[in-house]
Amino acid sequence: MKPDSKTVGVGVRGGKVAPGGEQRTSKAVVLIGFMGAGKTSVGRALGERLGWPFEDLDERIERRERRTVPEIFRDSGEAEFRRAEHEALSELLGELQAGSEQVVALGGGAFVQKQNVHLLQVARVFTVFLDADVEELWRRCSRQAEQLGVARPLLGNLGSFRKLCEARRRHYRKASFTQKTGGRTVKKIAAEIAHALGLSPSGKRGKKQ
Ligand code: S3P
Repeated sequence: MKPDSKTVGVGVRGGKVAPGGEQRTSKAVVLIGFMGAGKTSVGRALGERLGWPFEDLDERIERRERRTVPEIFRDSGEAEFRRAEHEALSELLGELQAGSEQVVALGGGAFVQKQNVHLLQVARVFTVFLDADVEELWRRCSRQAEQLGVARPLLGNLGSFRKLCEARRRHYRKASFTQKTGGRTVKKIAAEIAHALGLSPSGKRGKKQ
């Protein structure tokens, strides 16, 4: 049985106690899912809705490495990208303070790496899997490539895209929560996530939608 929109699962989720018994109350929400799932646009909308800062991990990687993601793949290969991704995630989570509110979007392969899942578990953040049909994901990515010039090193063709997506799905399902994205606007998805996680705008920082 697979509920239409939301499943609250085990695994990585918001919590209070970090290893060593230290209290942690970071309210970070980390969006995961395949390429084209809308992690960045939903993350931005969720951040705006809640008045929380938003960060895209790929952007941190690019700042740290001083080159774009496609350049890292092209010049140094995927293994080097994964190393940079892990370090950037470790740095980002290390910066989270008790009580800090943050929305983060990960790249499509980050949650597949065991060492990253481990970091997220230790940080006890909520992870939200943005789910969509693979055909829809492919349509979105192809459109972004054609119309906006968005280069995704692992885009490939529909066959390889589908295969990779299917192989990763079992990892994504380990997120705290699954949010369907099909047939919904970005704002609606952000609203559904906020509602499901019981999150409301903080202080006066919330922006009008
Ligand atoms: C990747 C997805 C990309 C980016 C990199 C690797 C992947 O992010 O991190 O190209 O392995 O699926 P998006 O999911 O934002 O496209």
